[in-house]
Amino acid sequence: MKFFIDTADIDEIRDLATTGLVDGVTTNPSLVMKSGRDMADVIAEICDVVPGPVSAEVTATDTAAMLAEADVLRAIAPNVAIKVPLTPDGLRACKALRDRDTMVNVTLCFSAAQAILAAKAGASFISPFVGRVDDIAGEGMALIADIVEIYDQYPEFDTEVLVASVRSPKHVVEAGRIGAHIATLPPNVLRQMFNHPLTDKGLAQFLADWEKTGQRIAGPRAAAE
Ligand code: G3P
Repeated sequence: MKFFIDTADIDEIRDLATTGLVDGVTTNPSLVMKSGRDMADVIAEICDVVPGPVSAEVTATDTAAMLAEADVLRAIAPNVAIKVPLTPDGLRACKALRDRDTMVNVTLCFSAAQAILAAKAGASFISPFVGRVDDIAGEGMALIADIVEIYDQYPEFDTEVLVASVRSPKHVVEAGRIGAHIATLPPNVLRQMFNHPLTDKGLAQFLADWEKTGQRIAGPRAAAE
């Protein structure tokens, strides 16, 4: 299961990249706004830090303008993935970009029907927004299960399911149970995944007991010094 980080906060990305667990980054216009940074600058910086796919979203709504913006974004770095909305114009742009071997992340997916269209358009990634489905009393993870089940019927679909709008470690665990390829995690969710009180308690006990031995784990040279 690949983990992308869902933010345009370069400091968060730098910090989490040190875990070795970050396989890519997703951004969108709202996350760029929150970063307070120039989009091209922050995407370039992110691409320097994370070698995996970095999603940069077009803001145009018609195909021709999307493709023009995609040319600008693709020029930033080779690992830029172009994000397009799941609209007729977005999927026309997706198909054209895939014909030019550009990674495309089709975003704002809220139904299995939409996900089938994205796969037929050759999307590299499909981003169903599980949190926003849950927000309206829907079943976000049921959508993921539907999409994975449908995609599995068609070997010609090579679109990776990128679970987005993740709000908790529970979403990540359920995405793994279903077999989704990727989850894009807000920084706090990745950090939350490490936490368990029994881990903290057990480590504290190990260290307290070790302290009682008076021993140190050191090589022969260090021991001789
Ligand atoms: O990648 C999409 C994600 O940023 C949306 O998250 O929490 O605004 O639904 P949220």
